[in-house]
This record gives sequence, C-alpha cells and structure tokens, in this order.
Amino acid sequence: MHDQEKNWILMTGVTRGIGRSLAEILRQRGISVCGLVRPAKVQQVSGWLDAVVPWELELPWAENSAETLFSTLSGKRVIGFVHAAGVLGPMDDVPDAGNVQAWVRWWSASAAAHRVNHASGMEILTAVLPKLSAWKNTTGKRSSFVAHLSSGAALKPYVGWNAYCASKAAILMDFKCLAAKIAAGQTTVLSVAPGTVMTDMMKQVLASDPSAFPALPKFKSLEQSGGLVAPEVPAGQIITWMLDSSQQQIEAWHGEFYDVRTNNSLTK
Ligand SMILES: NC(=O)c1ccc[n+]([C@@H]2O[C@H](COP(=O)([O-])OP(=O)(O)OC[C@H]3O[C@@H](n4cnc5c(N)ncnc54)[C@H](OP(=O)(O)O)[C@@H]3O)[C@@H](O)[C@H]2O)c1
Repeated sequence: MHDQEKNWILMTGVTRGIGRSLAEILRQRGISVCGLVRPAKVQQVSGWLDAVVPWELELPWAENSAETLFSTLSGKRVIGFVHAAGVLGPMDDVPDAGNVQAWVRWWSASAAAHRVNHASGMEILTAVLPKLSAWKNTTGKRSSFVAHLSSGAALKPYVGWNAYCASKAAILMDFKCLAAKIAAGQTTVLSVAPGTVMTDMMKQVLASDPSAFPALPKFKSLEQSGGLVAPEVPAGQIITWMLDSSQQQIEAWHGEFYDVRTNNSLTK
C-alpha cells in the first residue's frame, strides 16, 4: 500500500507505558504510527514503528529538526496527533532559595516538566494542525483529531505534584482554547484521562517519599486492590473511543475531558 492510501497518526510517548500500548494497538488496527522520540531512543523503536522522528521534548522547537518532521510527514495522510508523553517533574518540596544549586535544579526540573507536558505538545500540534486530513471509519466521514493524555491532576491539586498538576492543567486549558477557536468538523480536539495505570511513571509515584507526597497511601491502596491497570487496558478503550465513534459522537467531546473509566466527562 502506498503512503497516500494509509492512515497515519503522529504520536509522542511511544517508547513506554500508555503511549506504547496506544501505538501497538493502532498498528494492529492497520493505522501507521510515526513516533516523535528522543534521539537516544530512535534505534529502540525503529524496528517496530512505521516512521520515527528524533525529538527531545525538553528542548525548544529550534533545537529539534522541524525539517525532518515535515519531510517525514510529507505525502502521508496524517489523520491525527496524540501527545502521550509526560513526566512527573520534581516531587520533593521547593528548596530554600538560599540553597542556590538545589533551587536552580528544582526550577529547571519544573520547567522541563512544563515543556514536556504542555509547551512542546502544543508547539508540535500547532505546527502539524494545517497538515491533518479527514478520514473515514465504518460509520462514515470523520474529521482529523488532536488528542492528549490528561489526568485528574489537571483538575485536582496534589501536594508534591505542583509541576505535574500545573502543566497538566495548562495543556487541558490550551486544548479547550483551541476547541473554542476551531470547529469540531475541521479538527476534533480531545483530552482523555486514562485512569490509574501501572507504568514507569506510576512506579515512580509508588516509590516516592510519603512526606513529600501525602497522597501516596491512596496509590498504594489502589496497587493492593488491583486499581492500577495494565497500560493496554486504557489504551484499548481510548482507541475504540477515538477511532470507532461516529463524527457526531466524537464531536460531543470537542474541548471536553473524557474519562475512560466512567465513559463520562470530568469537566462538563
Ligand atoms: N500512569 C498513569 O496512571 C497516568 C494517569 C493519568 C495520566 N497519565 C498520562 O499518560 C501519559 C503517559 O504516561 P505513562 O504513565 O505511560 O508514562 P511513562 O510510562 O513514564 O512514559 C512516558 C513517555 O513519555 C516520554 N517522554 C518523557 N520525557 C520525554 C522527553 N523529554 N522527550 C521525549 N519523550 C519523552 C517517554 O519517553 P522516554 O522513554 O524517552 O523517556 C515515554 O515514552 C502522560 O502524559 C501521563 O501524564 C498517566
């Protein structure tokens, strides 16, 4: 099949966790996946992904190769962009400003989390938005879509997750602003919460210091009760919702926040 005949999805976060499961399921469904991955991870994914673009999300646009991104997408029918990458950012308390080294380290880790979770995702999204194409599923014509993996932390404050909550809230609002600007029939703007998922990010949460992260017992108890699901579970639910909904069904989620656990909105 020629590239023009295939449907492609551009994604971040394909190396591990939920993003990797999403990419694997998309490929099983016959959708080609182009992953934006750190240069050091290109070799790791190039054996199974359809296309790879080296991209370090912590770095600003000018320090990545937009030329490679655009030339890789050229001639392909790209129906969507999914920003699945994310980091927790610093979870220890902000150090005293007098401790200059620790202070600078903390704020630079916080800035990196804001870039990965919010700014870089929006930057890539905005650049590729005009290049996205409509497509067809079994229900009929669908507009292109952009999506990001959101979190309850975008809405609820957690002590120790300042950078994570703030950056997740920022991208959620950026998505809502975009949805207010463009029609769903042009590009559907989707925010989706995967629930509590056993990934490397969750392992980092479970290994955190309870004095810095007082919500730790909640996650430990979810771990014991089986409430931390494998990444392929929400990934399968997200793909079914994202790909198999009709245009009318998916438009109901334009600028909204879909929770896969309840099939409901978290912000309506
Ligand atoms: N796990 C949960 O319970 C949960 C709940 C709600 C929302 N989420 C959201 O779901 C998304 C995926 O989370 P996860 O749990 O699957 O995380 P994960 O297993 O830790 O995977 C994170 C992904 O982000 C990529 N990434 C991080 N920093 C990057 C950078 N600087 N440049 C390029 N790629 C980078 C990683 O690539 P590398 O391999 O190169 O590091 C990896 O592919 C995140 O947005 C997270 O906020 C997760």
